[in-house]
Amino acid sequence: METFPYKKIQRYVFPYIDSNMYLLAENNEALIIDPHISSDAENYLTENGVRAVTILLTHEHFDHICGIPWFREHYDVKVICQQEALNPGRQKHFSRPLVVSLILADRGEDKKAKELEAEYPTVHLLTAEQTWQETLDMTWQGHSFHIEHIPGHSPASSLITMDEVCVFTGDSLVPDAEPTIRWPWSDAGAYHSSTVQRLLQIPEACMIYPGHRDMVRMGDLKYENGVFCINR
Ligand SMILES: [Fe+2]
Repeated sequence: METFPYKKIQRYVFPYIDSNMYLLAENNEALIIDPHISSDAENYLTENGVRAVTILLTHEHFDHICGIPWFREHYDVKVICQQEALNPGRQKHFSRPLVVSLILADRGEDKKAKELEAEYPTVHLLTAEQTWQETLDMTWQGHSFHIEHIPGHSPASSLITMDEVCVFTGDSLVPDAEPTIRWPWSDAGAYHSSTVQRLLQIPEACMIYPGHRDMVRMGDLKYENGVFCINR
């Protein structure tokens, strides 16, 4: 499959439940989508002389935000997210590894669950330098970003389109996976009535960078029985 022009977008996989963090470094700055702690990412940032980091979130679940405190400790960080991500009532649940631990325990991976809790021992409530409500347009190092609110998987779920061709879908579109819209505060109605329609409008030429699993061209996906399946 064609890899697309953006070879410089790095992907790091959260070792516990394979969530994707994406990273782009240019001119001593980095843009990171859905951060977790990663020594490989740290090495890459050091190699690129990065001091300032802009963080965008596809949504507010633990496995997509858990690296923020670490990045705040080590870099000059600016977090930009949809305002629902900061809801204090929900945050106390999303800012700790409880749900991920339960998933791991459910799979019989208790050792991994313990490692996760040791690596992320402290609950940090999410804070942001900038929030937005329906859409946000911004530029970073000459790249355009159009960010839209697409609730359903979670209240703050967002669709991030970079340069009109790279689309970060978070957990709202994971290839070959049933959409997870049964979490606390998921909204299956909103997902089916508006978010799916929006996802189906993504141009075929775009590359999808999902919250889990591998990148895929939109043109290689078909929506069938409620799932974005890879055409094989
Ligand atoms: Fe999620």
